[in-house]
Amino acid sequence: MTAFPTRRLRRLRQSPTLRRLVAENDLTARRLVLPVFVKEGIDAAQPIASMPGVDQHPLGALPGLVEKAVAVGIGGIMLFGVPAVRDATGSGATDPGGILNRAIAVAADAAAGRITVQADLCLDEFTDHGHCGVLAADGSVDNDATLEIYAQMALAQAGAGADILGLSGMMDGQVAACRAALDAAGYSDVVILAYSAKYASAFYGPFRDAVESTLQGDRRTYQLDPANGREGVQEVLADIDEGADIVMVKPAGPYLDVLAEVASVSDVPVWAYQVSGEYALIEHAAAAGLIDRERAIGESLVGIRRAGAEAILTYWALEVAGWLDEGKVLA
Ligand code: PBG
Repeated sequence: MTAFPTRRLRRLRQSPTLRRLVAENDLTARRLVLPVFVKEGIDAAQPIASMPGVDQHPLGALPGLVEKAVAVGIGGIMLFGVPAVRDATGSGATDPGGILNRAIAVAADAAAGRITVQADLCLDEFTDHGHCGVLAADGSVDNDATLEIYAQMALAQAGAGADILGLSGMMDGQVAACRAALDAAGYSDVVILAYSAKYASAFYGPFRDAVESTLQGDRRTYQLDPANGREGVQEVLADIDEGADIVMVKPAGPYLDVLAEVASVSDVPVWAYQVSGEYALIEHAAAAGLIDRERAIGESLVGIRRAGAEAILTYWALEVAGWLDEGKVLA
């Protein structure tokens, strides 16, 4: 007869010092990337109603933001452009004078190699119909016509000084098309981050507000079905085959199984994007007094790390890096 359980699994949990010592995963500032919205034609930051604490920034605010990012040691910033005018082909995306390309130039100049400058490579912010590609006569998204524009966009972003291009449009062949265009133009050092397993998600809702997207309908003919895990892995393997330097799963929280599977098969770095809806849920729940904000943020991020993400795009990047700097234990 044994009076006690034989395994004392609680032994290592008895004190904060032991828990800290045996924690399997943690967050570090270098693994965090801050998404930044830059809006054309404004001269002061504008709050985004659906994302409390996140603003649309004027071009002139970028050098200051870059300094903050450098000061807390995050890995980089991911730029999104919010143009004043949109059209059917998203011409603002390939125009060197377009808001995103100007933002890249300003940020790259300010960063001067101290953090990475990354840019979203997709058409949805620039098209008047809000789709990630151009449309065929029947209204469907034309994959191959879109690839030609993505290739031009890659050249514009590389020319403006981006270190990493975030291919988020989910067109077939986009990695190969951009890699070929970059290499042919002498930009062989520009890194491709492929948003490989990008799901058709309701959690992008607040982002539409952030970039003032006009999308009618949905993106289910190109983004992945939330029911499919294996297909996400297939997308990742295809992108690696096409030359992706880094692959990503997006959103993060509802897709941790996909992330873990991708992390186990990928031979390139695996990142995750904690998207606008994941941010908004925690912020609104905390504002309503329903949840401990700091702990929920820490737990959401360490969960994404535990599932296998080596870096995370998160709207809390600066704040969390600041907490880490203060030595706060998260989660
Ligand atoms: C495409 C893009 C989107 C997001 C990042 N890149 C929007 C979409 O595909 O609908 C969403 C990010 C977020 O929700 O935080 N340009």
